[in-house]
Amino acid sequence: MKNVAVLGAGQMGSGIGEVFAENGYRVKMYDLSEEIFEKSRNRIYDSLKKLEGKCLIDRKAEVIQAQISYHADISELAGADIFVESAFENFGIKTNLLYKLADFLTPSSLVASNTSSYSITSLSRLLPWPEKFIGFHFMNPPPIMDLIEVIKGLYTSEQTFDFFWELAKDLKKIPIASRNSPGFVLNRILIPMINEAIYALYERVSTPEQIDAAMKLGANHPMGPLALADLIGLDTVLSILKTLQKELGENKYAPCPMLEDYVRKGWLGKKSKKGFYEY
Ligand code: CAA
Repeated sequence: MKNVAVLGAGQMGSGIGEVFAENGYRVKMYDLSEEIFEKSRNRIYDSLKKLEGKCLIDRKAEVIQAQISYHADISELAGADIFVESAFENFGIKTNLLYKLADFLTPSSLVASNTSSYSITSLSRLLPWPEKFIGFHFMNPPPIMDLIEVIKGLYTSEQTFDFFWELAKDLKKIPIASRNSPGFVLNRILIPMINEAIYALYERVSTPEQIDAAMKLGANHPMGPLALADLIGLDTVLSILKTLQKELGENKYAPCPMLEDYVRKGWLGKKSKKGFYEY
């Protein structure tokens, strides 16, 4: 059984750890506190139980969950074959974490970041073997979304790319390749669409329910853009927009003032029980 370390046990990290465990990997999850671990355990258990109920996993939820352990000491991740960084979408937090991780890597360690928008080349510079570093971007919620974006940085080797391309398939996902461009493919398109929906609300074009209904019923999206923003997290949506605006130098990516205002108030979507909707 291969060993994977996932750095960050939040919404995305938990889902990523779950996907690896479902597919037979032993997973070490790293984060800061028992409170975060408890939330992660519950989130993964609920998800596995749903999948078990639909016969979408080949072992019992408890058996899969037993492959996942939790660690608040980063040195305990040493020895993993694959490391996946999935911390909050903040450049300082991610770089700090990778910098700390560097001490526990060996020349054979493969390292990926689940960043939604930051440069893979910039992140790879913090590591002793940048050719072993790649962008491996899961979608939310990871256990049920099919796509993984695989992103080569300037220093990523062909062997590393090939390894992660096959790994995505081993996890029963469908990989697509993206150039190391801000937001890659998915967020370059999706996040400006969500920002536009927020502008429509800000300019009182319609209500949240009707804006979402328009995209569900008129464009066959599985959920409306405002509900999706709440699911992703409004702080994450804001952070991605700021990266797109800064890195691509275009004001068309400027975040709607309403989004900035909601994040300032701590209305972050589902995770804070209030965003465009209440939970
Ligand atoms: N684990 C297991 N099963 C889950 C689950 C999870 N985490 N979340 C939902 N499900 C299951 C539900 O149990 C439900 O099953 P049944 O139909 O058997 O009841 C099924 O999935 C559908 O869920 P819901 O009924 O709760 O709601 P839904 O029909 O709206 O589906 C959804 C939920 C799958 C999330 C769907 O709305 C969807 O696909 N939405 C779009 C998600 C999307 O666009 N994700 C990408 C976001 S962008 C991103 O992630 C990149 C980034 O960097 C920001």
